[in-house]
Amino acid sequence: MNLPYAEPYKIKMVEYIKKSTVEQRKEWIKEADYNLFNLSSDKVFIDLLTDSGTGAMSNNQWAAMMSGDESYAGSSSFLKLKEVVKKITGFSHFLPTHQGRAAENVLFSAIVKEGDIIPGNSHFDTTKGHIEFRKATAIDCTINEAFDTSVIHPFKGNVDLEKLKKVLKENSKEKIPFVILTITCNSSGGQPVSMQNVKEVSSVCKSFNIPLYFDSARFAENAYFIKKREKGYEDKTIKEIAKELFSYGDGMTMSAKKDGLVNMGGFIALNDEEVYKKATVYNIMFEGFITYGGMNGRDMAALAVGLDEATEFVYLESRIGQVSYLGEKLIELDIPVQHPIGGHAIFIDANKFVPTIPRNEYRAQALAIELYILGGIRGVEIGTVLADRDPFTRKNRYPELELVRLAIPRRTYSQNHMDYIVAVLKNIHDTRDQAKTGYRIIDEAPIMRHFTVKFEKI
Ligand code: F0G
Repeated sequence: MNLPYAEPYKIKMVEYIKKSTVEQRKEWIKEADYNLFNLSSDKVFIDLLTDSGTGAMSNNQWAAMMSGDESYAGSSSFLKLKEVVKKITGFSHFLPTHQGRAAENVLFSAIVKEGDIIPGNSHFDTTKGHIEFRKATAIDCTINEAFDTSVIHPFKGNVDLEKLKKVLKENSKEKIPFVILTITCNSSGGQPVSMQNVKEVSSVCKSFNIPLYFDSARFAENAYFIKKREKGYEDKTIKEIAKELFSYGDGMTMSAKKDGLVNMGGFIALNDEEVYKKATVYNIMFEGFITYGGMNGRDMAALAVGLDEATEFVYLESRIGQVSYLGEKLIELDIPVQHPIGGHAIFIDANKFVPTIPRNEYRAQALAIELYILGGIRGVEIGTVLADRDPFTRKNRYPELELVRLAIPRRTYSQNHMDYIVAVLKNIHDTRDQAKTGYRIIDEAPIMRHFTVKFEKI
């Protein structure tokens, strides 16, 4: 008999989570204006809203916190972190920020201007938000396979080189400050980018003399998929793969709340001295001095350990193994999910799950609400609500995919929790034909509306 994977850790501390009834949750979600972000966490049983900053730190990370150096300038925790970042990414300059979007804000302030175009593979919403906020445009060049959840492709985060070349040919170089590759690609389902594709994108960028940056929030998970799926990488370590991958680019932004295994933090790492100098000014203005950039010394200390742990195979095997365990069980039940299963989350295809709910009634949001009411499980809509309105026409943008994301926090939930999620989803799936109506928006912000939007039930 093949041995199943088992967690390469044991539990030293537990945190109780609260159970509730369907009746209570119906009341609570109504009071929250049907926005899952408005629920207090004690009203949630299994919280899959995000894998960002919600993971469990190891004993070694907690131990490192005690040695954090809180000096304003020249903290030894900063120097330690800088050394680890250099070792893992190879980039020569390093700026800490308080989280990933802050890294975007600082870097984009330095290099993005009005009218610019930034091609990439399904930019994450904060990335796109920071681009559009500067009156620039994000152009999605992801391969078409990514937009059909039933197509099996090992690297659905890949860039379509023809789409990319077209954008680079049709626009002047001055308008394209960089190309951004999101690894793994969150918006298309936590899907990886292959090393081959990274190399090809890099060489296209070089031929147009345009820098390549990585949005690296889940770079270790991406490296794991390369090891498992790409020929020639079977025997390489995760650290070797990550280092090679970064060697094809000019820099990166990082949300350390994911593959940094910490609850808060981020950074920029890059090679170009001029860009670094410009970004430094914005870092001081927006984040803090360059040797802490919005992070506590203790958080930098924990991040240095976290980056090292996250790039170990044994950790990644159980991390991605757990996500895949949940995904495979749902596939067995014919529940439509993005195939193959991505690194950090399950993406349920609401267009296939509840086609009976009209699209302009936010069917993925409706499904996420049902999952909360019936199981106390909090996922998140990745569909029309998240896609925001077109900044020029102010019309709803209907993305190709209408998804509910169940993001799995790192080292946090057990296999029994996964089985519970499967059972709740099966019950909803069995009665899905009865779902006919969704929700109407009654209040929304002009940008990134999903955090604060209010709905009413139709
Ligand atoms: N890039 C990617 C690919 C992300 O997934 C995120 C955050 C960010 C950048 C921004 O980083 O949150 O530290 O400011 N994603 C979270 C999520 C919020 O739930 O997927 P941040």
